[in-house]
Amino acid sequence: MGISEVREYDCWLQGRGQNQFSDALKNCLSRIVVKEDCLVVKQAALELQRGLKRMFGVDAAITDTIQKPCTVVGTATAVSELTGKTVSCDRAEGFCIEIGDELSVVAGADCNGTLYGAFRLLMELAKGAGTGFSLEDAPRSGIRMINHWDNLDGTIERGYAGPSLFYKDDKIDYDPQRIEDYARLLASIGINCLSINNVNVRKTAKLLITEQFLPDVAKLADIFRPFGIRLMLSINFGAPYSFGDLDTADPLDPRVGEWWAKRADLVYKYIPDLAGFLVKADSEGEAGPFQYGRDHADGANMLAKALKPHNGTVIWRCFVYNCTQDWRDQTQDRACAAYDHFMPLDGRFDDNVILQIKHGPYDFQVREPVTPLFGALKKTRHLIEFQITQEYTGHQIDVCFLPYMWQDVYHFDTKHGENSTIGGMMGNRISGAVAVGSVGRDENWTGNTLSQANWFGFGRLAWNPDLTAEEIADEWVKLTFGLDPEVDAAVNKILMMSYPTYENYNAPFGVCFMVTRSLHYGPDIEGYEYSRWGTYHRANWEAVGVDRTPSGTNYTGQYAPENAAMFADLATCPENLMLFFHRVPYSYVMKNGKNLLQNIYDTHFKGVEQVEEIIRTWEGIQDKIGSAVYASVRERMGRQLTNAIEWRDVVNTYFHRHTGIPDEQGRKIYD
Ligand code: GCU
Repeated sequence: MGISEVREYDCWLQGRGQNQFSDALKNCLSRIVVKEDCLVVKQAALELQRGLKRMFGVDAAITDTIQKPCTVVGTATAVSELTGKTVSCDRAEGFCIEIGDELSVVAGADCNGTLYGAFRLLMELAKGAGTGFSLEDAPRSGIRMINHWDNLDGTIERGYAGPSLFYKDDKIDYDPQRIEDYARLLASIGINCLSINNVNVRKTAKLLITEQFLPDVAKLADIFRPFGIRLMLSINFGAPYSFGDLDTADPLDPRVGEWWAKRADLVYKYIPDLAGFLVKADSEGEAGPFQYGRDHADGANMLAKALKPHNGTVIWRCFVYNCTQDWRDQTQDRACAAYDHFMPLDGRFDDNVILQIKHGPYDFQVREPVTPLFGALKKTRHLIEFQITQEYTGHQIDVCFLPYMWQDVYHFDTKHGENSTIGGMMGNRISGAVAVGSVGRDENWTGNTLSQANWFGFGRLAWNPDLTAEEIADEWVKLTFGLDPEVDAAVNKILMMSYPTYENYNAPFGVCFMVTRSLHYGPDIEGYEYSRWGTYHRANWEAVGVDRTPSGTNYTGQYAPENAAMFADLATCPENLMLFFHRVPYSYVMKNGKNLLQNIYDTHFKGVEQVEEIIRTWEGIQDKIGSAVYASVRERMGRQLTNAIEWRDVVNTYFHRHTGIPDEQGRKIYD
């Protein structure tokens, strides 16, 4: 075929065929000057050297003496001293880069900034930048984190790309080279923190904070450290009693505080720069302060005090709700839970506690409104949580480009005070972004190569929430597939149409949870309808959706008044969230002049047609992709089509059977 395989293992650090540098630029890049003691800065020089070779075939030497032509790498102060040229960049973790034939510069505001600058230079070169190019950039917020939901037995909760990178058979067990490669990919998109075990801390995972495991955790931390990445451990709140040391885990019992303080001392002896503990408490069966009649501030602050002497942070999740609900009780509304639990505690948390809040009030559904805590919390540090692993968005079988939806989250205006969009609050009112990760031991990390775009996109948006899905798609496609315009156009088209396509064949108009129970792939319209999980759509013969307005559960009342009014009025509520906020009769006429039922039919027929178009588009570039990646993505697209057809037919049949109203175009709906 005459084309090189996409090296999917290298993800967006490939540089496919873009090594057409002028001789002058090649010479300049071939001599890397670094003269600094910082581990991360040294890594920046090494990464530049490695990337130039691997991505562009350029051999570069590293030296500490300046002799032009050369490329100088370091923190801004060091670079200014070495070059005699004033380089200024002072925003935390930021950098400036300049490409010249005589002198190129990668200067960081600090060590991490230098590393990010080195990666940025490589990526800009891959996109075609040359002499004369310059860029100054910095991340909007300080915490850019991935949560692994990896279990010690090697399984991954909601993992779709093979077993855990870190664990096997109840041991820490990994390929050091692969971990280093993982750290590289994370750092290249600006990730600076990583929690390495599942938030559901069960069985052996509880022992990660004991000397049985700490030496091995420390070795892992050593691999991530040069990449500017600090580790975090998920802990089990009940550890003091489950370890058999105490008969309680009551956060207000002084013995419990002492127990955690000693435990923290031990943990930090092994990993002095551990970022802290991540906690899922009183949620889906996990231990927590409620067991002792205490609240979440009591629980989080007790742990915060134990971590304080070590500069550690407690990240405390707000995914707290009643998961033993009775479907008959229509007064309870799970969507209200995070706000109900945490808003009254605003101002009570210690300064080294950060709340972690899912972007939507439910659980990473295809379409949810933004959680009303954002903007409302005034005195509590908090993070926004996304999910890269495609739990509800197609298991990395279906193509589903998540930045398309995340950009809507970042653009949402909470109407609380000034600069009140989620993006606008990043770095000030919101301390950063975190996402549940999507990688495993599959050779290409994410199972579906196209899912790498979600991982990349999360990092890019955490860095700069103003980026659009289109910009991210375009950048990722160029970095992964090269600069062939036909390939670029086709893959961009696939990514950009994938989210609306998935949404079309999934649960309609924000109604949520029509998905197969537990597995969360494929349709099961009433799978959760009579369950304890609090996720109901209440479809009957004449209407569907939940009334969350003041005449219903009044969830809308948790938003700032302007948004509360907008969501509460069916006429102004965005149609893609209509059934989340309202109970709507099928006869309701939507903006396109058709009624709700017909729109449900139409979107589901359309979703399948769109998957067919996605497949045709992919097939159209077969000759330009390389056989292995082409085939594995094509195979998944086949399964996606089956899934889309299943969703279409199950959803349409369900509503047809309940209403008896046929499709106005007479398309096939099963009786
Ligand atoms: C979802 C998911 C669980 C996970 C939980 C969480 O409910 O299905 O597997 O444990 O979210 O975020 O803690």
